[in-house]
Amino acid sequence: MKHEVESRFSNLTTKAAVLRRNSIAALFEQDPSRLARFVVEAAGLRLDLSKQLIDVAALDGLLAIAEVAGVTAARAAMISGETINHTEQRAVLHMALRAASGYPHGADVAAVLARMETLADDIRSGRRTGHTGRRITDVVNIGIGGSHLGPQLACDALRYASETPLGVHFLANVDGGELDRIVTGLDPATTLFIVASKSFTTAETRLNATSARAWLTRALGSKAVARHFVAVSSRPERAVEFGLAAENVFPLWDWVGGRYSLWSAIGLPIALGLGMPVFRELLAGAAAMDAHFVDAAPAHNMPVVLALVGLWNCHCLGAESYAVVPYDDRLRYLPDYLQQLEMESNGKRVGLDGAVLDHHTAPITWGGLGTNAQHAFFQLLHQGTRLVPVDFICALEHPAAPREHHDMLLANCFAQAEALMLGRSFSGGAPDARGSDLAPHRESPGNRPSSMLTMARLDPRTLGALIALYEHKTFVQSVVWGINAFDQWGVELGKELATGILDEITGAAPDAQHDASTAALIAAYRALRAGQPG
Ligand code: F6P
Repeated sequence: MKHEVESRFSNLTTKAAVLRRNSIAALFEQDPSRLARFVVEAAGLRLDLSKQLIDVAALDGLLAIAEVAGVTAARAAMISGETINHTEQRAVLHMALRAASGYPHGADVAAVLARMETLADDIRSGRRTGHTGRRITDVVNIGIGGSHLGPQLACDALRYASETPLGVHFLANVDGGELDRIVTGLDPATTLFIVASKSFTTAETRLNATSARAWLTRALGSKAVARHFVAVSSRPERAVEFGLAAENVFPLWDWVGGRYSLWSAIGLPIALGLGMPVFRELLAGAAAMDAHFVDAAPAHNMPVVLALVGLWNCHCLGAESYAVVPYDDRLRYLPDYLQQLEMESNGKRVGLDGAVLDHHTAPITWGGLGTNAQHAFFQLLHQGTRLVPVDFICALEHPAAPREHHDMLLANCFAQAEALMLGRSFSGGAPDARGSDLAPHRESPGNRPSSMLTMARLDPRTLGALIALYEHKTFVQSVVWGINAFDQWGVELGKELATGILDEITGAAPDAQHDASTAALIAAYRALRAGQPG
């Protein structure tokens, strides 16, 4: 963080202490234009930040911070294809994947989209069949992290967008139990596998692909691989070495980060499962949010204000986490998706210059579905000792939910945000004897901040806009923190140690030096394994 940004935050923190003694409810009374000032609409989404514990002066202070931090310049650098991911020497151009024009690499993007369209149309129409001539009915995406979470979120969220969905399954974890759960019930003759790995070196994905290939060839023979396996990778030659025909490999580029890649051929499960028109609408929704992010003034720029209010909650109010709570079953994978997006992007401890930071970066992103979450962790949100801001998300219409269900669902969503804000006191009433004993237990302090993100409909366009919103929010926050949101060096150490330990377990390498605890775990597992059939 630049010195000036830090000192402005410290001024705002003093202001926040005063504001905390006020109440959000009182802020509404003091400023009749509060709702108008704190609502932003864009790309089919409406973001209401008025139930945050913030006032207009503080928001203006945050907007000034964004300017001083260089958000506008950083956004321009990203769009123009500068190497802003400097530790990996890469540009960051996921916006080019959903742009009609005006971004670098347009011809490459269009060519891959056309190939995706051909494959999706051929599979979905039955023109391209499996090895035995039977129609493909199920697609299994083998990939992890960014090669899994986005497509899984979209396929699930858009389940009503196609009248003829294929079965789409996601094999991510190296846990063999997951492989077993997924292939049980599938027929090799009607199943297509996508091996999705930007690097094509990810150990989990390679082992799962090897096991899936064995499952297929046991039933259909090795010649079947050509009609039952496709791959997506920025290193197509590695997929070919793995045994796939070059024409079945879809390229991806270094300028697309893994967790920003669902818009590329990594989105094949969406195109295959729901059809290419759905995928193109998803891209169009994201492009609409991109256009807003690029053009709207900061004060009315949805990703910018969402990012700034998140920074306010962390740095000025002391929140260590925030909860994402969609009131829509179709968004049940959103918290998982956002965990990777935000925590892998911004879980960093050094600045762009490599110096250790003396301020916090990404808070913990977590959450769950409303109303289930109300009966699980909302107790802590209402009465716990920690401040946990909430992002509520809901769609006003539902294509399939009976009216009485949707009415109750949304009533709960709105009520929770109101309850967190207002709280409830038992001191002023005339409780009976038992009530008076229980008053402190029943009281809720209120003044707990939340955002409300609504849309008329959850459809491919609004989902695209929603995901792009959080992508840009993540980017804006990284600029203010002065960190690189696009590398992920922290995941390397564990991967390397696991490779070594695996070799020790299997006897491929001699025992290495370990701490006593790790050595005992390896020894216990090896002893048990030695007594079992291979
Ligand atoms: O967990 C690290 C990571 O590199 C993620 O950033 C990425 O999304 C995931 O692994 C999968 O990587 P790949 O697509 O190269 O298999």
